[in-house]
Amino acid sequence: MMDRVKVYARTLFAGFGFLYDLSRFVRYGGWRSSLRSVEARNYYMVKLYHTLEKSLSFSHRKPGSGWAGAQALILALERSFMLHGIGCHDLLAISVLKKFADAEQPHHPQKTAWLLQRLLKVEAQCQQPVPFFQHSGALDYDRSAFDKGRLPAPEQFFLSRYSLREFSPVPIPVEELRRALEMAMKAPSACNRQAWHVYHLKGEMAQRALAFQDGNRGFGHKIQDLLIITSDLRAFVSPRERYQHWIDGGMFAMSLILALHALGIASCCLNWSQSGTADSRLRKAIKISAQHSVMMMLAIGYPNEQNRVCASPRRPLHEIYTLLSAH
Ligand SMILES: Cc1cc2nc3c(=O)[nH]c(=O)nc-3n(C[C@H](O)[C@H](O)[C@H](O)COP(=O)(O)O)c2cc1C
Repeated sequence: MMDRVKVYARTLFAGFGFLYDLSRFVRYGGWRSSLRSVEARNYYMVKLYHTLEKSLSFSHRKPGSGWAGAQALILALERSFMLHGIGCHDLLAISVLKKFADAEQPHHPQKTAWLLQRLLKVEAQCQQPVPFFQHSGALDYDRSAFDKGRLPAPEQFFLSRYSLREFSPVPIPVEELRRALEMAMKAPSACNRQAWHVYHLKGEMAQRALAFQDGNRGFGHKIQDLLIITSDLRAFVSPRERYQHWIDGGMFAMSLILALHALGIASCCLNWSQSGTADSRLRKAIKISAQHSVMMMLAIGYPNEQNRVCASPRRPLHEIYTLLSAH
């Protein structure tokens, strides 16, 4: 009987949680955004020009493919350049379109000339010089470049990371944190939308946020630097993408943890698996943008000379790996 009550209660609370997430998706998802805001436009532009990047990167590219994307992109650029504020993806879109035009010129010269003319008009309207990004479109990337990323002993790197809950008082230099964030941003994301946003809370501010989190008992009061990792709902439009911001945000979080580890900075994830009420309370106490969903908190700091960590052994591989092969 007791078990059944528990099941009903949990189902009910899960239902409230889903409803809360649904209401946030409906209110803040990209489908509500117009191209007027730079943020919303950034996500729209990158989604469009990424289809061109993909088309340009195929080893056997079909001439003529990608024109629908190019047309949508030039239309969006024409509209957006009459508005205030130019985002980084507006500018990147121009470079990608130029590279696309280069690839299409031999096959569709008239159409390409028409596209370039419209691009010129867009550039003339821009209130700032439009840089050309060489690092856009598709790049040649040979095997030796891939090899440069190989670690001599990858196990040493991965297996030496532990969640650390008590840190040394040595402050983290701003440049080191920035370096970690830049590296973490190399994390993949759907259509390269990069919908993440990180809030850095220090000292008293960190304590204010930690008061809402229930996994830091016994060590939270000593945390000096706290990151709140969030994902921007405006980047996600289709109802099929309802979980995408959690996935992209989670991947970014892991990337950041490893980037910090590579710089000798330890961290501990602090879950934000919370009820809608608790989430709203945190948002009232800390200025987190309404469109940003909280993935987790991350306590960060340098390790002490001597530390004690949870061993947290891993499961045997056979329990988590299944090979499915038709042969
Ligand atoms: C999303 C997430 C939330 C977590 N939340 C907490 C937390 O609230 N409190 C805590 O002490 N540890 C938290 N952890 C840390 C885990 O306990 C830890 O990662 C796990 O035991 C594996 O240990 P390791 O990170 O040292 O390898 C969290 C980890 C993840 C990935």
